[in-house]
Amino acid sequence: MGKDHDNLMHGIEALRDNKQCHQGEAMRKHWILLGACGWVVFTLMFVSKFISLRVIDEYGAADRCWTVPGNNLVKPIPVSSMEESAPQVAANPSDQLSDPTAADWQSVAESRIQLLSSMCKNSSLRNLTHVSISKFVLDRIFVCDKHKILFCQTPKVGNTQWKKVLIVLNGTFPSVEEVPGHIVHNQGKNGLPRLSTFTPQEITHRLSTYFKFFIVRDPFERLISAFKDKFVKNPRFEPWYKHKIAPAIIRKYRKRQFDSENTTSGLHFEDFVRYLGDVEGRHHLDRQFGEPIIHWMTYADLCAPCEIPYSVVGHHETLDQDAPFILRAAGIDQLVSYPPIPPGITRYNRTKVEQYFSGISKRDIRRLFARYQGDFSLFGYPNPDFLLN
Ligand SMILES: *[C@@H]1O[C@H](CO)[C@@H](O)[C@H](O)[C@H]1NC(C)=O
Ligand SMILES: *[C@@H]1O[C@H](CO)[C@@H](O)[C@H](O)[C@H]1NC(C)=O
Ligand SMILES: *[C@@H]1O[C@H](CO)[C@@H](O)[C@H](O)[C@H]1NC(C)=O
Ligand SMILES: *[C@@H]1O[C@H](CO)[C@@H](O)[C@H](O)[C@H]1NC(C)=O
Ligand SMILES: *[C@@H]1O[C@H](CO)[C@@H](O)[C@H](O)[C@H]1NC(C)=O
Repeated sequence: MGKDHDNLMHGIEALRDNKQCHQGEAMRKHWILLGACGWVVFTLMFVSKFISLRVIDEYGAADRCWTVPGNNLVKPIPVSSMEESAPQVAANPSDQLSDPTAADWQSVAESRIQLLSSMCKNSSLRNLTHVSISKFVLDRIFVCDKHKILFCQTPKVGNTQWKKVLIVLNGTFPSVEEVPGHIVHNQGKNGLPRLSTFTPQEITHRLSTYFKFFIVRDPFERLISAFKDKFVKNPRFEPWYKHKIAPAIIRKYRKRQFDSENTTSGLHFEDFVRYLGDVEGRHHLDRQFGEPIIHWMTYADLCAPCEIPYSVVGHHETLDQDAPFILRAAGIDQLVSYPPIPPGITRYNRTKVEQYFSGISKRDIRRLFARYQGDFSLFGYPNPDFLLN
């Protein structure tokens, strides 16, 4: 980010200098300078585009805005009557406009956990909600022994930030500003052991005594986000998705066969939906890929929430309230704070969901829903009836 910023400043300086250039006398010079100005503007556009992408991915200001907080986390705000209806908690955008007190959020968090445990008992969801605490699940869970915290990683909901929180807590880096970006996802260097690296007794001890949490978001919005991230933008430059996964899905699921030879045109959201909703075919394909792909696995499969008694399940849509609440509940709010969340960025956007699913057959959408229904029910997201009927 620092480098980008430098580039930007260079660009701005160059622009300022070039103001004088228009007053030059010779026509020839004029054209050369015009070209130079154009180049600067182009560079600026490129750089700013890159920066805004980063902002969206990382909730911005990732490396700058962490502070050791004073008392900025709890704002005494009039009580609102929201959140009694836990199942609608996250999905109603107006919920996020109110800003309840800590005590209110405690009850929101508790009602989510109650809903989760009652849905875990629902036998008609059993196949979708019960998974064993396998090595795969233990691999998803990061451990902070110093503060007795377990964090289950669920992609596409701001995990980088949470990992930075835990890295700071480990004590190696005195502040979040000093956590280098490349360390965060580097398993060897980030100092965040996975739960799978402990002995069975150590694992059991941690699972039963530590503070445990993870973050979820609307399941369909999450799939859209994963689709964009891996097949459209691919900001981390992971060629695997475009060159291996996408062509395989297209070959198997694109409706019009003559199109399917054309794998270069890129994966369509429709192909992706058909793949995700095809339970059996998908297993086969995933085996071909060599590993399950965490970016579109259900939360149930990633974190085993019906087997592991999590303390808190945060919702992306209400991260403004959830992030400080989680820090307080984990007893670390005096040590770190979650970076500022740009307004509106976590809000559920029904228009976007409708756009992505428009033109996709009801049959395919219903199959997809059948696959992700467990996640909708466990975490209180209303069924997307506007897509299903
Ligand atoms: C169990 O889940 C199904 C499917 O979501 C739902 O229709 C049903 O109402 C649930 N039953 C209970 C007791 O919550
Ligand atoms: C659950 O899984 C069992 C065995 O795999 C299968 O026979 C059954 O039809 C499934 N039930 C549901 C509701 O999907
Ligand atoms: C994390 O903290 C532990 C205990 O203080 C220390 O042994 C370890 O080296 C730290 N790891 C990193 C990479 O920060
Ligand atoms: C690939 O797509 C292009 C343009 O969409 C089309 O002209 C061409 O016929 C397609 N090729 C095959 C093999 O389907
Ligand atoms: C919701 O998504 C639509 C379509 O992607 C976009 O045009 C709109 O700006 C979004 N709304 C908000 C509030 O972000």
